[in-house]
Amino acid sequence: MSLLEVNHVKKVYKTRMGGDEVTALKDVHFTVEKGEFVAIMGESGSGKTTLLNILAGLDSPTNGRVLIDGKDYTTLKDNDKAMFRRENLGFIFQDFNLLDNFSLEDNIKLPLVLGGENHAKMNDRVIPIAKTLGIDSILKKYPYEVSGGQKQRTAVARAIITRPHILLADEPTGALDSKSSTNLLKLLRKINKEGQTILMVTHSNVAASYADRVMFIRDGKVFNQIYRGDISREEMLDKICDSVSVLMRGDDESEQ
Ligand SMILES: Nc1ncnc2c1ncn2[C@@H]1O[C@H](COP(=O)(O)OP(=O)(O)O)[C@@H](O)[C@H]1O
Ligand SMILES: [Mg+2]
Repeated sequence: MSLLEVNHVKKVYKTRMGGDEVTALKDVHFTVEKGEFVAIMGESGSGKTTLLNILAGLDSPTNGRVLIDGKDYTTLKDNDKAMFRRENLGFIFQDFNLLDNFSLEDNIKLPLVLGGENHAKMNDRVIPIAKTLGIDSILKKYPYEVSGGQKQRTAVARAIITRPHILLADEPTGALDSKSSTNLLKLLRKINKEGQTILMVTHSNVAASYADRVMFIRDGKVFNQIYRGDISREEMLDKICDSVSVLMRGDDESEQ
């Protein structure tokens, strides 16, 4: 059984009272195994965020199912869904969404607080993660007192503190300069090597080249997938660039 099964997911948005419909996803079908690092690419408007929101349980599919560990949690009641989400999923958002009035430590602990974890246990979890991420000496600081890179590490810590089965990231490098991006991507790769399953939406070829598999979404479907296998990151990047240019060529043809 795969860790994540996305079964023929379709998403139609109804805009304005019974007006136009937008088919964001037509028929998305794929599986992710435990320990994989998968990047999802596609043009702007191809449905990447829609897909991630459905996987995150923040939106529901019009058709199809999403199974995590064999369980279709999209049909759970709100409270159960929230609990399932907390226990199984971690999120990294594009702008990190740290709470300004909370210290870094409290930001990291937030998912545990929401999960009703006791204080001693929380500290047992925060310290080792903060050490791994190199932010253990600044835990008492507030987001406005630290650098962008430190904020980003805090967001990663918060996303993995619950030991989620899957880490979901939507354009995590979108707002970062290239040095911070590289650091974040190396960090994701390190966490992945330690066993964390990661699904990352990105429009950056370079960011995607850190993954083991890159999935391209087009016309509401999985259009193409590239597996890294034994090749280097640089070779993976070349392959991704080739696929992206094929995608673009497809566009030219359809416009003629
Ligand atoms: N809440 C919504 N209501 C109506 N249309 C939406 C909504 N969210 C997204 N869309 C439409 O669905 C399509 C896919 O959007 P999105 O998933 O944000 O794409 P991406 O993240 O790949 O840029 C777009 O055409 C977008 O306008
Ligand atoms: Mg998006």
